Amino acid sequence: MRHLMNPLDFSVKELEDLFTLTDDIMASPEKYRHRCDGKILATCFYEPSTRTRLSFESAMLRLGGQVLGFASADSSSAAKGESVSDTIRIISCYADICAIRHPKEGAALVAATKATIPVINAGDGGHQHPTQTLTDLMTIHALKGSFDNMTVGLCGDLKFGRTVHSLINALKRYSNINFIFISPEELRIPGYIREDVLDRNHIPYREVRKLEDVMPELDILYMTRVQRERFFNEEDYVRLKDYYILNKDKMSLAKKDMMVLHPLPRVNEISVEVDEDDRARYFDQVRYGVYVRMGLILTLLELI
Ligand code: NCD
Repeated sequence: MRHLMNPLDFSVKELEDLFTLTDDIMASPEKYRHRCDGKILATCFYEPSTRTRLSFESAMLRLGGQVLGFASADSSSAAKGESVSDTIRIISCYADICAIRHPKEGAALVAATKATIPVINAGDGGHQHPTQTLTDLMTIHALKGSFDNMTVGLCGDLKFGRTVHSLINALKRYSNINFIFISPEELRIPGYIREDVLDRNHIPYREVRKLEDVMPELDILYMTRVQRERFFNEEDYVRLKDYYILNKDKMSLAKKDMMVLHPLPRVNEISVEVDEDDRARYFDQVRYGVYVRMGLILTLLELI
C-alpha cells in the first residue's frame, strides 16, 4: 500500500508515468468514467480549503467513485477530542482512499502509519502540499513540455508557504534549475530547505527582496499568498501582506513566454488586471489539478 506525503515519494520516472496517464485522461475522459465504480474517497479536512478538497471530490466523481468526509475540524469528532490516529482507523473502515488536510506538520504522516488505506497529504501545516505540486508540475508539463533548464522565481511567503516547500523539493531533481527566492526578510525560505535541500544538492539559488529586479530573468514566476493563519500576531501580517503586488507594469519587464503560477487563493498579490495576460496561468492550473488527482487516485488504488 502506498501513500503520498511528499512529492519525493514518487520517483522522476513515476511522475513521468503519472503525467502521461493524466494526458490520456484529459484526451479521453470517457475511458476512465467507470474506473472507480464502487470505490469511496474520504476527504478529511481539519483546515479550510476550496480547491484541494473539491478537486479531489470532483476527481473521484469523474472516475465513477463516491465521496464522503468532513470540511472542518468542528464538524468532526476532533471537536470532541478524538486523535488523528483514531479517526483514520475509523475512516479506513468507511473508505478505500483518504485525502487529509491538517494544521499540524506531520499529521498526515501520523495518519498514514495507522491507516489501512492509501493516505494522501492534502497539506500539513506549513510543511508540505504534494498534490499542489503535482498540479504545478502537470501545468508546467502541459504548457512547457519540460522541467529542465528553467529559472524559477518563488515570491511571497516562502517561510510558511507549504506549496513552495513541496515545489522546491520536486524541481530540484531536474537539470539546470535555478531558483530565485523573492521575499521580505521575515518570510525567507526556511533554513532547513536552504541547507538540507539546496546547499546539500548544490542547487543554485539567490535570495532577493525586489521582484522588479529579477523579473526579466524568470521562466516561471510562482506567486504566493501571505499565510495569515500561520502568523503569531496580526500586526506582522498587516505589515507584510501587501509587500508584493504583481501588476501590468511588472509584467512588462518579463519574458514573452514567462508563466505566472499561483496555487490560489489569491488575496492582493496578483492584481486582477494580470488575469488577461496570456502568461497568467493560475486558472489553467486549477483545471490540471483535477485531472492529475484523477491520475493519482488511479495510481494509488492500483487501477491502471
Ligand atoms: C494552498 C494551501 O492550502 O497551502 N492552497 C491550495 O491548496 N491551493 C495555498 C494557500 O492557501 O495559500
